[in-house]
Amino acid sequence: MRLLVTGGAGFIGSHFIRLALSERPDWEIINFDLLTYAGNLQSLVDIESNPRYKFAKGDIANPDDLDKVFSDTIDIVINFAAETHVDKSLYDASRFIRTNIMGVGALLESAMAHKIQRFIQISTDEVYGSMPAPQMAIENDPLRPTSPYAATKASADLLCLSFHKTFNFPVVITRSCNNYGPYQFPEKVIPFFISEALAGKHLPLYGQGKNIRNWIHVEDNCRAILAVIEKGMPGEIYNISGDNYIDNLGLTKKLVGLLNCPESLIKFVEDRPAHDFRYAINSKKIRNLGWSPQIDFDKGLEQTVEWYKAHAEWMQAIRCGKHQQFYENHYKNR
Ligand code: NAD
Ligand code: TYD
Repeated sequence: MRLLVTGGAGFIGSHFIRLALSERPDWEIINFDLLTYAGNLQSLVDIESNPRYKFAKGDIANPDDLDKVFSDTIDIVINFAAETHVDKSLYDASRFIRTNIMGVGALLESAMAHKIQRFIQISTDEVYGSMPAPQMAIENDPLRPTSPYAATKASADLLCLSFHKTFNFPVVITRSCNNYGPYQFPEKVIPFFISEALAGKHLPLYGQGKNIRNWIHVEDNCRAILAVIEKGMPGEIYNISGDNYIDNLGLTKKLVGLLNCPESLIKFVEDRPAHDFRYAINSKKIRNLGWSPQIDFDKGLEQTVEWYKAHAEWMQAIRCGKHQQFYENHYKNR
């Protein structure tokens, strides 16, 4: 079976590729990624010479790039490719609209033209918007996205569902909570705060740090995606929750504790505009497929902190933009 993994040079996609190659010995994977600032092939050096893995640079919003990659036989598409940082979407929504909506539309059309057996759209719990406690969103709840990022992801979900309803195209959607783990781009709060704290800098906590997020280890999310590929039903949506709810101040205190840094590094700063207060999802439906999260939050967070401490050069390459030269120097002429 051959999988087209789009956005596989990003955080979750790179973990998914590593897991799928190791656990499904008959799968071949093409990693199709535009290598934006968030794409990092250095996160995949350990598997780059695996004969079942291939990298193809390309843009999901460019039909010519899609024609080229679909000239290989592809059985399943898993779309991780997206612009993903909420803060960036507040200041320039256009790239989010282009990739997360137009790109998903172009990818759906190409995948349908090539009679792909299954199309997995990787979405987010942010499409439900903020949930007042103790409510938890279920899969057919209305979509109430707040940020431009979340609105583009919600739009993509609706496009995917329309392709299923109208053309019976076998789309399945996953909506996970916030992921954490190694190889995450240090714009997201956990790797950002770890790298700032290690440099002795202030940790800018938005508002009063009371906003609540629900965390899942990236490997647990990737195992859930495997379960959805193999057992999910076309036209269905699956929430993926780690059920680790914590406010941002509590999370930041855990991080500074693990790093042996003083809490005085924490600095309350102006809140993010329209900052969603609490994300919460019910994931009973995917648990009925036999999946459940395995990684304990405190242990997973401790291992994650240790990983970033031990991979200072990975972080440093990103911080000075060197990760973007890696493709030119190392990959392009292979
Ligand atoms: P990421 O920002 O780390 O990676 C995104 C990848 O997509 C990068 O490699 C980038 O180069 C690539 N990309 C961007 N635009 C592209 C385009 N036009 N064509 C091809 N490739 C392109 O993102 P991530 O955190 O790994 O998230 C992956 C998916 O999971 C996203 O769809 C995101 O919405 C969703 N998600 C993420 C989280 C999270 O906590 N990180 C939670 C829920 C859902
Ligand atoms: P982030 O990692 O950007 O993910 P998302 O916005 O998709 O949930 O942020 C997680 C939480 O941390 C969110 O409530 C915003 C907060 N945050 C800060 O307080 N300071 C920061 O510098 C960042 C990046 C995030």
